[in-house]
Amino acid sequence: MKIKILMVCLGNICRSPLAEGILKSKLDTSKFTVDSCGTSSYHIGSKPDQRSIDIGKKYNIDITNQRAAQFTNDHFKVFDYIYVMDNSNYQNIIKLANSGQDKDKVKLILNELYPNKNLNVPDPYYGGEQGFEDVYQMLNKACDNIVNKLEKLY
Ligand code: 4NP
Repeated sequence: MKIKILMVCLGNICRSPLAEGILKSKLDTSKFTVDSCGTSSYHIGSKPDQRSIDIGKKYNIDITNQRAAQFTNDHFKVFDYIYVMDNSNYQNIIKLANSGQDKDKVKLILNELYPNKNLNVPDPYYGGEQGFEDVYQMLNKACDNIVNKLEKLY
């Protein structure tokens, strides 16, 4: 059975598509499934934001085939680890949980880098390109730590 990891943000067009692409590039996809979605319905069916596509391309990560989807309660049944980008995503997802087991799956992604600090990956949507570079750098480091943890499970 593959271990399934879900990346979650608000729109599923800026942060979580990048997080999905970065983590996928670091894991053996015969052992792990990585997907992403958003808590909102704003961009369902859309490609990632061009600025996320561009920053991915800069680091050899192709996210152009991703399409935005919305988080539903069913994701708790499918995924083993759910990484959210910020505290608002966290609250929105936790509200949809049916059990303590569901809730335990949800983790703030930057806690993998800065344990227990509960920091947000800042939403780069309304900012400039530097925001996307910053998001890439923090997600890349957080994903390295996630990979170290997940590979120990095999
Ligand atoms: P994301 O960024 O949650 O990283 O995908 C956003 C994208 C769109 C909006 C907000 C955040 N929006 O309000 O449309």
